[in-house]
Amino acid sequence: MLLKKIETRSAHAGVIGLGYVGLSLVVAIADAGFKVTGIDINPEKIERLKRGISDVPDVPDAVLGPLIKSGQIQVTTDYSVLSQLDTVNICVPTPLNENRTPDMQFITAAVEQIAQHLHSEQLVILESTTYPGTTEEIVLPTLQPNSSETTLENDSNTKPPSLSPDSTESLQVGRDFYLAFSPERIEPGNSTYFMTNTPKIVGGVTPKCTQVAKTFYEQFINKTYTVSSPRIAEMTKLLENTFRSVNIGLINEVALICDRMDLNVWEIIDAAATKPFGFMPFYPGPGLGGHCIPIDPHYLSWQALNYNYHARFIELASEINSSMPNYVLDKVIHALNLHRKPLNGSNLLILGVAYKKDIGDTRESPAFEVIRLMLDKGAHILYHDPHVSNIVLGEGGTYHSQTLTSALIESVDCVVILTDHSAIDYDLIVKHAAVIVDTRNATRTVQNELDKIIKI
Ligand SMILES: NC(=O)c1ccc[n+]([C@@H]2O[C@H](COP(=O)([O-])OP(=O)(O)OC[C@H]3O[C@@H](n4cnc5c(N)ncnc54)[C@H](O)[C@@H]3O)[C@@H](O)[C@H]2O)c1
Repeated sequence: MLLKKIETRSAHAGVIGLGYVGLSLVVAIADAGFKVTGIDINPEKIERLKRGISDVPDVPDAVLGPLIKSGQIQVTTDYSVLSQLDTVNICVPTPLNENRTPDMQFITAAVEQIAQHLHSEQLVILESTTYPGTTEEIVLPTLQPNSSETTLENDSNTKPPSLSPDSTESLQVGRDFYLAFSPERIEPGNSTYFMTNTPKIVGGVTPKCTQVAKTFYEQFINKTYTVSSPRIAEMTKLLENTFRSVNIGLINEVALICDRMDLNVWEIIDAAATKPFGFMPFYPGPGLGGHCIPIDPHYLSWQALNYNYHARFIELASEINSSMPNYVLDKVIHALNLHRKPLNGSNLLILGVAYKKDIGDTRESPAFEVIRLMLDKGAHILYHDPHVSNIVLGEGGTYHSQTLTSALIESVDCVVILTDHSAIDYDLIVKHAAVIVDTRNATRTVQNELDKIIKI
């Protein structure tokens, strides 16, 4: 029955957590013709969304507004709507606790709400990035309290579906309701690969769960790829992000070595990247940023410890990547030293505070740590970022993005490029700056006054 509703797109879909992932998903599902209800705990966000105002740059108001207005997308803080939904995708945050262990409170809270409204022929999919075992060890026991007694591999196809189960008997996964894990792979700002043209990994608790979840995604995603269990799907996502974190750690280490050898690491990467096989370029920078790469590998190393395994690559990469802000500080001290100036009391212009180019996302941005280190040493900071109008630096207060003029560039002792936004005129920067520390090779096309540029 649910399969038919999905295939005819008459199923009522739901998404819990309307952030970067959830809101993009809501729109993709609605575009396929489904009626969608989004649930979020943040009432201000819900009010903005009801007016068609999106917080997510990849979901423009012009796309969201008409779908809200027509009623195809509805949004609410009220979980009781779950009882009317045929499908529910969970897209809540999975951050780290202060001691850098997985913070599961958002998943737990969402799943407890689903459990209260779970009904027959409902599909539940966890999309939040998490450690292997979450779907079967945290989500399933909440939705089906007797789950440890059931054989998960068995779809219980011999029993008829229990559409109105006895109140003493909980709904059975794979028979009454369906549960799967499917990691989100969206990358903010990537205009080549977005949700619908990036293959979707699907791993259900039972084969029937996988089939139902796959059929759901097939309605709005070009390609699905099924795996044998939620654990495999959970681990796949962690492999993808750990791969990036470790390779960035490696190239940052190579940059540190090249610095000592007085070799240009950027030229070396470009040369190595001409090899058509066996090499994939990664680039050094001021440190890791964003919602995923600095966080997700710690979900894996934490779970590995539970299996008595110390994940050395992950820890080493994290150590090197988190040392990069201090390295940038050393470069700035060196640049000022060339002009016989101390960092203490110098005026620095930071270019770019977003964690990567051409987006306004500052989550986990290394710029914050670099600026904090500079302020600690007595530097005066100004910043310009075409995508971020202001930043709040704890006790450092609120800073506003400055208009980039030649007078501003000339007024500071050093310009520090932390994000290589395309909208910035780097020729103008080099022409007017006393000295530049370039952590992203943003000045690669500049031809003149190269002696002013210090790269990492
Ligand atoms: N942002 C990305 O690029 C990206 C990419 C792939 C995977 N992910 C993963 O997807 C998940 C979500 O990330 P995001 O970037 O969308 O997070 P986000 O912080 O942008 O949004 C999360 C939303 O969930 C809401 N929320 C929190 N608890 C809730 C609850 N109990 N019920 C309802 N709503 C709740 C918050 O108010 C917020 O609006 C995370 O696990 C993340 O690691 C993110």
